[in-house]
Amino acid sequence: MTEKTFQSPKKRGQIAVFLSGRGSNFLAIHDAVIRGDINADISLVFSNRKEAPGLLHAKKRRLKTLYLNPKEFKSKEDYDEEICKQLKKRDIDLICLAGYMKILTPGFCNEFENRIINIHPALLPSFPGLHVQKKAIDWGVRYSGATVHFVTASVDMGPIILQAVVPVLQDDTEESLSNRILKQEHKIYPESVKLYFEGKLLIKGRKVFILP
Ligand code: GAR
Repeated sequence: MTEKTFQSPKKRGQIAVFLSGRGSNFLAIHDAVIRGDINADISLVFSNRKEAPGLLHAKKRRLKTLYLNPKEFKSKEDYDEEICKQLKKRDIDLICLAGYMKILTPGFCNEFENRIINIHPALLPSFPGLHVQKKAIDWGVRYSGATVHFVTASVDMGPIILQAVVPVLQDDTEESLSNRILKQEHKIYPESVKLYFEGKLLIKGRKVFILP
């Protein structure tokens, strides 16, 4: 069987950032856009939480924001369909999940195949899911880190774009390890988005090749 391939587009892109909280990864991506490192604009910052600090940062930076209340929709599918409509209106090329704490429906993932990426605070496929910095400490691993990956319907298991490794120290707390990992997140997430719009990400099956 031949493997499915996809090459990211070389173009000036339109990004939508999805977030539910603090938004430091969103800010790192936006800073890189402002510096001219990423060939794209952030056309929308979306949240499922009205009071998400990241959404307030986006408003202060005069970016378009959208909040949809999940409780106003009959099902997760209806919710994601509405988001999908909103994204299509704005011709979004790439969705960056930046601490978006809702699982996207398979229908949504398929609709935006190869056009959703996520940052995860562990070295996938180890420690998928939530509270993964604590899980890494409790397991006793010597190294953890961050992973940027394409999003598929199989949660946290899509093709890996970049990873960064950090040591786990014997006296680490969840907070100290999270901070060490976050510093790396702020490097590899903007770098991944940059590579995406340089047309340098080639997905073959479940592997991502970075083109020269
Ligand atoms: C980041 O550590 C990110 O890796 C994590 O949430 C945090 C968001 O921080 N994402 C996940 O755990 C996704 N499963 P931020 O709002 O400051 O970017």
